[in-house]
Amino acid sequence: MRRPVRRALASLAALSAVLAGVAAHAAAAQVWYFADSPTYPGVRLLEIGEDGATVTSDWYGTMPAQNVRRNAQGFEFDLGNLNDNARPVRHWVAAVQGDQLTLTGDIWTSHVVQSARPATPQEQKRYRFTPTSLPPLTDLAVDGQAATPPMGWSSWNRFAENIDDKTVREIADAMVATGLRDAGYTYVNIDDGWQGERGADGILRPNAKFPDMKGLADYVHARGLKLGIYSSPGPKTCAGFTGSYGHVAQDARTFAAWGVDYLKYDLCSGEWFYRSQDEVRRGYQEMGAALKATGRSIVYSLCEYGRVDVATWGRKAGGHLWRTTGDITDDFASMTAIGLDRNPRFPAGGPGGWNDPDMLEVGNGGMSAVEYRAHMALWAMSSAPLLMGHDVRAMSAETKEILENKDVIAIDQDRLGVPGHRLRSAGQAEVWSRPLADGGHALALFNRGEQAVTLHLTPAETAQQTMALDVWAQRRVSTGDGFVLPAHGSVLLRFATGLGVSAD
Ligand code: GLA
Repeated sequence: MRRPVRRALASLAALSAVLAGVAAHAAAAQVWYFADSPTYPGVRLLEIGEDGATVTSDWYGTMPAQNVRRNAQGFEFDLGNLNDNARPVRHWVAAVQGDQLTLTGDIWTSHVVQSARPATPQEQKRYRFTPTSLPPLTDLAVDGQAATPPMGWSSWNRFAENIDDKTVREIADAMVATGLRDAGYTYVNIDDGWQGERGADGILRPNAKFPDMKGLADYVHARGLKLGIYSSPGPKTCAGFTGSYGHVAQDARTFAAWGVDYLKYDLCSGEWFYRSQDEVRRGYQEMGAALKATGRSIVYSLCEYGRVDVATWGRKAGGHLWRTTGDITDDFASMTAIGLDRNPRFPAGGPGGWNDPDMLEVGNGGMSAVEYRAHMALWAMSSAPLLMGHDVRAMSAETKEILENKDVIAIDQDRLGVPGHRLRSAGQAEVWSRPLADGGHALALFNRGEQAVTLHLTPAETAQQTMALDVWAQRRVSTGDGFVLPAHGSVLLRFATGLGVSAD
């Protein structure tokens, strides 16, 4: 007998032994119910059937167990971790004692020890997971939104899930009072943490912190601003709130009825269902089509961390911007790793579809003003969406000055929509160039190092111009002198003449 066949037969025999053993331990219990499931990953059911075992979790749906085998206490099995980045197979142990089962194992970052009892038919019905199917791949029509990168504010970087209606209203007011709205920041985006539960009708309700979403949208609109919201193609969002899995079209209609103008759709637990490019794209396309079907103009932000070549299909899935990275943190190393190293590796975005290196950290306190200017200059040179992430109600004069600098915003929002790129590196310094619609260009000089450096521009870099606008200093400067950049510093220059790339 060939070895694989023998192995297969041996594992079948082992499985029957498991099933017999389990049956002996708890005759009635083929489906176990975990009432005290920790919120993450929310294991609910362990089902032992004729042909193996499955684990059903609130986050990840139903996962098949592998290598189910009996041991002295009950049985054990392996569970593949389907996370795209790391897929170690985790070992799980199910110890059975009469009508109680204790399950021990790991999912992704969580170590789980949970007790179960036999599931009632009602519990089985309630928690059995129904997989949904994805629509066939198609190219959605481009709709003309986001001709320039979206600008606004998002709750996540500063507030995480500690966000509520009152804070959002106050932020909207502060955006008007501080001049940020008039500088171009129009979206007020609620990130993760607003969701409650679905009703019997399947409609997703906000949680108690957001008593009236329509009222909130009206409030924001009355101030000349727009409202953004957040969901996931998975059953759970990254912070463990209800996602749109199985309710995609219904949620799109709910958002439109509230008056939502922007949706960030974050892969999160969806990565357990959608892994290949085809699946991830169809998962995003499903919501893209559902948003269009509402008839409301809703900017659609794809957040799947730059996986599976999103920049090549984001627009076709209905997206207007797509993340190119995991989450930014409020420090120079994270900001430059994303802005200088990772984001430039993606094919260029442009009008209607932008690369998104994540939300701004300007004003959150983890970087110096020098570093925040580099952050802002780099995002502007990259034609990145400018979604502020700080507490606008308590903004320093320096933060306001960085965010409201009209010339840095003009570079970001330049209607040509061609992102900049690195011209050269000089030690720890970099020179970046971006063509502009008026035929001119912008140059940015960045110093990643811990020592000050002096950079001299070449005639090619200045397009033979002897003067340029220094965007941070707000004055015209001679381009022939060396530019001194402090540690982590930047210089941003605007030239009247370009480097050979014109608006047409
Ligand atoms: C992910 C996203 C973040 C944020 C959180 C919310 O980590 O990348 O931008 O939306 O989820 O849980």
